[in-house]
Amino acid sequence: MPRLSDPRFTPDCTIRLDGTAIPARTGEPLALALLAADRPLLARSHKYHRPRGPFCLTGTCHGCLVRVEGQPSVRSCRLACREGLEVATQHALPTAAADLLGVIDLATPGGLDHHHLGTSSQPVNRLVVALSRRLAGMGRLPDEGPPAPAADAPEVEPWEALVIGGGPAGLGAAWALARAGRRVLLAEAEPRLGGRLRGGDRPERLEVDWPRLAQQAVQAAGEVACDTSALGLWRDGGAPLALLSATRPGDAAPRLRLIRPGAIVLCPGGTAVPPLLEDGDRPGVLWGRGLAQALAEHGTLPGRRAAVLGTGREAHALADRLLQAGLPAVLVPAAARALGRGRVRGLLTAEGERIPCDVVAVVGPPAPATDLGRQLGAEAPFDPAVGAFALRVDGAGATGVPGLWAAGEVTGAMDAGRAIEAGHRAGEAAAAALARGAAHG
Ligand code: FES
Repeated sequence: MPRLSDPRFTPDCTIRLDGTAIPARTGEPLALALLAADRPLLARSHKYHRPRGPFCLTGTCHGCLVRVEGQPSVRSCRLACREGLEVATQHALPTAAADLLGVIDLATPGGLDHHHLGTSSQPVNRLVVALSRRLAGMGRLPDEGPPAPAADAPEVEPWEALVIGGGPAGLGAAWALARAGRRVLLAEAEPRLGGRLRGGDRPERLEVDWPRLAQQAVQAAGEVACDTSALGLWRDGGAPLALLSATRPGDAAPRLRLIRPGAIVLCPGGTAVPPLLEDGDRPGVLWGRGLAQALAEHGTLPGRRAAVLGTGREAHALADRLLQAGLPAVLVPAAARALGRGRVRGLLTAEGERIPCDVVAVVGPPAPATDLGRQLGAEAPFDPAVGAFALRVDGAGATGVPGLWAAGEVTGAMDAGRAIEAGHRAGEAAAAALARGAAHG
């Protein structure tokens, strides 16, 4: 059962992968159509040609790259399906499923030092250099070049406040700012608002009507810009500037926007962290939150038996959701190794227990996306609870950089309820600073 049996998720078009017809649903992400068709192996890695497949399902890991109609390295989790889409696996000889160069990984279990390989003889060295060129890069060059970039720089748009990220914290911040009468631009990189709430994660402690709150934030904000990523933040003498990249369906190239906000609240969350276990990069190993979203919004069931790798409330909730959807799922607190080659076939624990599965859902806090905050000088010390660097903020979300607040998982691990509280506090603090005329320096 690759999809929930619900008329909303019934395939209505056909795409082709390496010449094989695959049923798909118009508009669903390509990676999900391929997972539902039991095709998680999409490419081979640089150098060792290890099997590659989707992992995060949210556009940040680059595991899902494929060649689409002559364009290499397209993120299949970001591309919508349509009738007749031609897709090819890439960086393989001849295909990812039957890659002859996969022998490199098998033959070099201890690694391959290409810096010193074949350097003793000139003819051998030439051969090795030619081979290295073949192994480097990802995919073949595109059939056609990219569209010409826009000739003119975008106009600067003044806004009272910019909230980056439309998950729980961003919604809380936008809501607070808009309620204080501020004109807010809420930018979200994904096609929809909600972040982890989209996968069914609900806060434990707060009695919050999430759909209503999201609606209020949307209604009160000056603009909600989905499919809009923040590329950079910097100062050019006065208030910070933000460069946004907006992708609309049908656009040949992203549209750039230059924003000068009086206050910025950073709520970008974080990126998926691959599991720390041997062979944890096997196709079929998926980020739990991405899988939860795929199940909730597209009915995707990417296997026949799942292992939820992790502990705590989020892991239990995901295992329950998978079971309710008809996908047998077991909770595995920790594992030493993933089994299988072209796709995951099980987990091996440190005690030697083998747990058969063809899907592994990895649960754990994301790595905080601190880059934008650090661009403006915010501090990001190491957070042992997350095992990563997180933005340092005070109780009101102030980063110590004038005009810049942060909230949610970019500041450390927290559940969705605490994230919205933190976002709300940061939004209120930013609104108060705007009222005092003290938001940016
Ligand atoms: S970027 Fe597509 S699965 Fe991670």
